[in-house]
Amino acid sequence: MQEKILVVGSSGQIGTELITELRKIYGSSNVVASDLRKPDFFELDGPFEELDILNPQRFHEIVKAHGITQVYLLAALLSATAEKNPKFAWQLNMDSLFLVLDAAKEGLIKKVYWPSSIAVFGPTTPRVLTPQYTVMEPNTIYGISKQAGERYCEYYHQKYGVDVRSLRYPGLIGYKSAPGGGTTDYSVHIYHEALKKGTYECFLSENTTLPMLYMPDALKATIGIMESEAAKVKIRSSYNLAGMSFSPKEIAAEIAKHIPGFTITYKPDSRQQIADSWPQSINDDEARAHWGWKPGYDLSAMTADMLTHLKAALQSS
Ligand SMILES: NC(=O)c1ccc[n+]([C@@H]2O[C@H](COP(=O)([O-])OP(=O)(O)OC[C@H]3O[C@@H](n4cnc5c(N)ncnc54)[C@H](O)[C@@H]3O)[C@@H](O)[C@H]2O)c1
Repeated sequence: MQEKILVVGSSGQIGTELITELRKIYGSSNVVASDLRKPDFFELDGPFEELDILNPQRFHEIVKAHGITQVYLLAALLSATAEKNPKFAWQLNMDSLFLVLDAAKEGLIKKVYWPSSIAVFGPTTPRVLTPQYTVMEPNTIYGISKQAGERYCEYYHQKYGVDVRSLRYPGLIGYKSAPGGGTTDYSVHIYHEALKKGTYECFLSENTTLPMLYMPDALKATIGIMESEAAKVKIRSSYNLAGMSFSPKEIAAEIAKHIPGFTITYKPDSRQQIADSWPQSINDDEARAHWGWKPGYDLSAMTADMLTHLKAALQSS
């Protein structure tokens, strides 16, 4: 059967890149992008539907009109933005998930992808090589919504047989799209500023080590778990996923190997407190053993690739 995919939140950091990858695999006409508005920085070569995911009627209309079989639900308020508007963050992050899980429960769609985050962990979680199963006491509204979301995913799978798959993304870094208000956004901004100004003021302190993943690896994991046989996806809350871990000081040193004289200064803001409550590194043994996850990029490979692509984009603009 021909899969028909709907990506909700397709104009964001992950969505813009995921749409391109999915269209390569399934064909442009079989992957429907949807968001509050079209992305303003590139042309979509396939269907786009304007959708506020808090409007269930419009969601059902789109699902029926396109004969959608799979939904990737990416719309959410991210960690730093959610802290500014906690009630709305809870409403958006949870109501959208309920809507999509219920559509799968009712048989309107067959498969759901929903990303969780390392924000499900909190200050009482062991911070080094954080295991899949551990203490989880998130203290941000974003983390609380992701943890509750994970519980709902597992519940819908066990109780109603819903085929939902999920990954706990670490901070994601890519050159094609801008980050959307998270605590790890600095790791994207730093490359842009290094090339444009040769210096960067970081909103986290120099030794704040956090788990990160390069976008090509994030796309590989996302599509990988969605294409795995159902029996291999044994965890239906969300899988730990690791790529690399580094601090602002370490990424700055790596960038300086390519841009001699690059400097970094530090001015921690409210995001520091969020970062301090998150793990420094993640153990992803289950994802590797169950469905064959393996990252391809470390800090040095990512930095070389990011700078090559950003330099080319700057030169052509
Ligand atoms: N980027 C990361 O580092 C990271 C890390 C962990 C988890 N995640 C998760 O991955 C998912 C996608 O993240 P992202 O970085 O692409 O986020 P983003 O903020 O860049 O993109 C989210 C998109 O959702 C859209 N959106 C917001 N409200 C909407 C609504 N009511 N209806 C339809 N669309 C709406 C926004 O316009 C935006 O284009 C989120 O669930 C996020 O929590 C991201």
